[in-house]
Amino acid sequence: MTPAPVIELRNATKSYPGGVHALREVNLTVQEGELLAVVGPSGSGKSTMLNIMGTLDKPTTGTVEVAGYDVSGLSDSRLSALRARHIGFVFQHFHLAAGRDAVDNVADGLLYAGVPLKERRRRAREALAGVRLDHRRSHTPNELSGGEKQRVAIARALVGSPRLLLADEPTGALDTASGELVMELLHELNASGTTVCVITHDNEIADSLPRRVRFRDGEIVSDTRSGVPLGPRTEGAGS
Ligand SMILES: Nc1ncnc2c1ncn2[C@@H]1O[C@H](COP(=O)(O)OP(=O)(O)OP(=O)(O)O)[C@@H](O)[C@H]1O
Ligand SMILES: [Mg+2]
Repeated sequence: MTPAPVIELRNATKSYPGGVHALREVNLTVQEGELLAVVGPSGSGKSTMLNIMGTLDKPTTGTVEVAGYDVSGLSDSRLSALRARHIGFVFQHFHLAAGRDAVDNVADGLLYAGVPLKERRRRAREALAGVRLDHRRSHTPNELSGGEKQRVAIARALVGSPRLLLADEPTGALDTASGELVMELLHELNASGTTVCVITHDNEIADSLPRRVRFRDGEIVSDTRSGVPLGPRTEGAGS
């Protein structure tokens, strides 16, 4: 089967009042099954792009297609449904609910998918087993280590079996060993067919992935696949 684009950004820009251009005419196509790193200095627009790719934010100009849908015309509830079906997020600082155990935090990942509570919890237990946290499933976030919290966050992102996983610095807050386990999980996930896009500050991690997209000042300055440039980045830009 030929790979289909999971995400397509065309001439996407994001501007804020006061002349901040967080993204400038970004063109990016992510194909089904890819595993890519997004790297670049602080403030270069990485999180902005990830949020736009995941439809958590809208571009100022340009278009975003997710699984072939142009998302610009969709209402908030349609967008929530699209996200629930296709996209999982892992945030740098976990975003877990305090006072709720690991199972319920993960089960919340299915809140918008219309799955009954009992089934949400069953799938949550399965997802926790997948990130090797069987033994911690009744622990609340304050009873978990940083690496364990990150794995709960990953399980929550995966519990709806998304086609696309977007992870913003998933190893940023972790020690080397926990970071390696998280990367191992992301590799496994990718091997089983999920498209994975990871923002990282860690060059070693970036270099270990099959594709690297480098950002500077809101622009993609290079895009390489296993050391091979992906060709002109100017498609549709008129130059
Ligand atoms: N709501 C906002 N209003 C104004 N400017 C913003 C807003 N959000 C982000 N920015 C600016 O947009 C630029 C890109 O921010 P973004 O968060 O995408 O950077 P980043 O590459 O993820 O950085 P980091 O590595 O530090 O997380 C920055 O200059 C930031 O100050
Ligand atoms: Mg960021």
